[in-house]
Amino acid sequence: MRAVLLTGHGGPEVLQPATVPDPEPGPGQVAIDLVRAALNHREVWIREGRPGPLPAILGSDGAGVVSEVGPGVEGVAAGDEVVVNPSLDWGPGEDEPGPDFRILGRPDQGTYAERIVLAAHQVRPRPEGWSWDECAALPLAGLTAWRALRLAGAGPGRRILVTGAGGGVATFLVQIGAALGATVVATTGSATKVARALELGAAEAVDYHDPEWPGQIGPVDAAIDSIGGPGLDAVISTLVRGGVLVSFGDTSRETAAVDLAEVFLEWRRIQGTTMGSPREFDALLEHLATANWRPVIDSTFPLEEAAEAHRRLVNPERTGKVVLAIR
Ligand SMILES: NC(=O)c1ccc[n+]([C@@H]2O[C@H](COP(=O)([O-])OP(=O)(O)OC[C@H]3O[C@@H](n4cnc5c(N)ncnc54)[C@H](OP(=O)(O)O)[C@@H]3O)[C@@H](O)[C@H]2O)c1
Repeated sequence: MRAVLLTGHGGPEVLQPATVPDPEPGPGQVAIDLVRAALNHREVWIREGRPGPLPAILGSDGAGVVSEVGPGVEGVAAGDEVVVNPSLDWGPGEDEPGPDFRILGRPDQGTYAERIVLAAHQVRPRPEGWSWDECAALPLAGLTAWRALRLAGAGPGRRILVTGAGGGVATFLVQIGAALGATVVATTGSATKVARALELGAAEAVDYHDPEWPGQIGPVDAAIDSIGGPGLDAVISTLVRGGVLVSFGDTSRETAAVDLAEVFLEWRRIQGTTMGSPREFDALLEHLATANWRPVIDSTFPLEEAAEAHRRLVNPERTGKVVLAIR
């Protein structure tokens, strides 16, 4: 099959098109002929040097058609159009996953390929009426956003801050947060992106390059952040007494020095989260049946141009998801 291999650690050029053997489904597994994959920042971290086996096929997000089922599979059949749940083997808990949990795309073969084999319980029917690009854009970022919003208590009467609103997960946070009835306040990186965040459903949006931004928004009940770094204190300062900071990333890559007095003297909490449970993935898909929003697709590249897609992902002008067209 056609695939893109991570051949080493470094710049986007280490992503090389290749032909590799087709994976075959074993007991309880299904093979999916992928139509689209989508990028996540995780693949940039891995490409740049996160330790792990090489060569590897990256990619957590995908959507396609089931082409073969292994022995013992029930409820999924060849011809089914599906999306992939990249939160692998989460387990029975809701607060955190079990010991087998991993994210699809190294060490498991990822979605930058024509075919993928997964446990049948990792696939779900494609959302009705959604394009293949939208289907592939959804899983990892949508699931992460869904759980983060639950932990932030998103709903009517709640004011929720989303930082870096142009990001893949963050565009879902703005859209789903607004759809759940919360008042979403956003920070983002340019005037154009401020306007875009407002279009996507934010009630207020400010440019995080302005150091005075916390004073430009009123207090929030919860903040959902994936930038981290030295700016985290400013994010915490926007919380009401007893407010919660939900943290799911540290894109700035700098260590955050938090003034703990701003946490304990204000009865605030810091809640970490990664991915989500299969029950949360199902709840997200159920929400889509009545939702009036669709994923924000920034751009779509042919599979073989994965390196170019990575360059686009780290371009500050990008908003939302970058997709790979496979067939
Ligand atoms: N824990 C989890 O389960 C989980 C799941 C998904 C992602 N993550 C992590 O969360 C972060 C966001 O993921 P993503 O896929 O949404 O990434 P992404 O699409 O690349 O979005 C990152 C956003 O962060 C903002 N940003 C602020 N400072 C930045 C900087 N110095 N460099 C780059 N971006 C900066 C930008 O917002 P503006 O466009 O508004 O300027 C950018 O769009 C990543 O660190 C990722 O590893 C964690």
